[in-house]
Amino acid sequence: MSENINIDQSLSDEKKYQLLIPQIEALIDSDIPIISNLSNITAVLMDAFVKISWVGFYIKKNDKLFLGSFQGKVACTTIKIGNGVCGTSAANMETVIVKDVDSFPGHIACDAGSKSEIVLPVLDETNNLFAVLDIDSYDYSSFNEVDKNYLEQVCDLLSTKLKLSEFSLS
Ligand code: SME
Repeated sequence: MSENINIDQSLSDEKKYQLLIPQIEALIDSDIPIISNLSNITAVLMDAFVKISWVGFYIKKNDKLFLGSFQGKVACTTIKIGNGVCGTSAANMETVIVKDVDSFPGHIACDAGSKSEIVLPVLDETNNLFAVLDIDSYDYSSFNEVDKNYLEQVCDLLSTKLKLSEFSLS
């Protein structure tokens, strides 16, 4: 595994993602615990994109999502499926892009500075919801179809390379 992931900050987001995807694929290691993989992915994304203020996984257990690996400020620990942006993405198993959090009814403000976000579902190898990947920004309209396309590829890599159904929150 490459321990060093170098990201040229002058590149466009699309170019960064194109360089990152194979490195993330190499980083995901089915011989180590799932939590270690999730943690490093949050670190890669936080390092790569200055626009990201917070990035983390909320992991599903029963009808709730619980805070998992993340980078950023202390965050809400528990989100009911159906609530907020994360819970909406989880309920519909669809990516949600929010360009202005104040315009999203029920948005959960863990950090009052957050202005926009993207939340993506992470499915396990049997196509059940495992988690959501939540990424926030202090700027409005930070995320678009480019982010959606490549971040969905990151979520797909987790689904295909790991046995996510074997993970359990105690
Ligand atoms: N804003 C999210 C809650 C999680 S925090 O942003 C880390 C939501 O509305 O679901």
